[in-house]
Amino acid sequence: MFQSIQPLPPDPILGLSAAYRADTNPKKVDLGVGVYKDAAGNTPVMRAVKKAEEKLLNTQASKAYVGPTGFADYNAAVARMLFGDELLTRLGGRRITVQSPGGCGGLRLSAEFIQKANPGAKVWVSDPTWANHVPLLGSSGLNIELYPYYDYEKHDVRFDEMLGCLQKVSSNEVVLLHGCCHNPSGADLNREQWQAIRDVALKQGFTVFIDLAYQGLGDGLEEDVYGVRLLAESLPELIVVSSCSKNFGLYRERTGAATVICENDTQASAANTLLAASARANYSMPPDHGAAIVEAVMNTPALHDDWEMELKEMRDRINGLRSLLVSRLREAGVDQDFSFIEREKGMFSFLGVSKEQVQSLINDYSIYLVNSSRINVASINDDNIDYLTSSIAAVLK
Ligand code: LMR
Repeated sequence: MFQSIQPLPPDPILGLSAAYRADTNPKKVDLGVGVYKDAAGNTPVMRAVKKAEEKLLNTQASKAYVGPTGFADYNAAVARMLFGDELLTRLGGRRITVQSPGGCGGLRLSAEFIQKANPGAKVWVSDPTWANHVPLLGSSGLNIELYPYYDYEKHDVRFDEMLGCLQKVSSNEVVLLHGCCHNPSGADLNREQWQAIRDVALKQGFTVFIDLAYQGLGDGLEEDVYGVRLLAESLPELIVVSSCSKNFGLYRERTGAATVICENDTQASAANTLLAASARANYSMPPDHGAAIVEAVMNTPALHDDWEMELKEMRDRINGLRSLLVSRLREAGVDQDFSFIEREKGMFSFLGVSKEQVQSLINDYSIYLVNSSRINVASINDDNIDYLTSSIAAVLK
């Protein structure tokens, strides 16, 4: 039976980590997968996370099953982080939140939920979008279409074209937006643009689906959910998938959630049963550890304050690295204008170099980045910045 199977090519993002690990060049730089790194190049366990883990070790009394929708107090904490207390109260029973194994698990639950509500529904995703959106949503049976998003020349959102496209999307179709820190471009929607999207969603009646993987890593915990909150208070329906991988540094603990807002409480209760059934059919129930940590941090004031402080340190470091990269490229003699990197948000930006130049950076300089020229800005540090900028300058010559 297995004689006919053929190996698949490496994952466009995760495959880079394996190639980087195998590279023996001492100067190698990993700008690939989106994990935060500190000045020493490590991806640390956050201070509040460590303390919450100690607390759990000492107090957790059982490892019995929790259930397909996960830990209720974690789900409530996630919902508070997304919407804030006041909006959460207003949404009431129209909103349900289900714990998922990472953001990916939440995307999968949501995709299956859409598939059950409208089999084969069209889902519009940004051009470009995160490399895993299309295989993940597509393999659930949804039909993927692209809306214009990033202008590679102007390094900005092609908003007029995007809006023009969305004005033709009909009800029963879905539009996937990145809540903040657009992956892969780092180019985010501004407030007026979110408002225009709200207006067109109301007029056309399509359902908005927001992927929020980087809350707190752009402008701030509250600032980064401006669009999420605007749409949650204005639209009859919304799906938000959130992840604690980056803002709690819980990557391998697989800690995420799918939140669904429906027109009324009855539909929301029905949505909860569909998401629970998807969880049960796929993996039965989500892993507990990461969710227990997030719940402990969110509901213990001292841990919460320390977490917010460390998250701000991470965000400030990333924004500082954006400015550093731009100025050091200039100093390395690069004429091209890279100032857009300073305007963009979150971990990623496109370097904006050709595929051949990307291959040269990987093969000739051991600098690993995604084929699209996406770089993880958070991987830059004092030890690699000179090598990185001089290599980019050499490749651009
Ligand atoms: C990324 O885009 O690098 C991260 O979201 C990690 C992943 O799973 O691709």
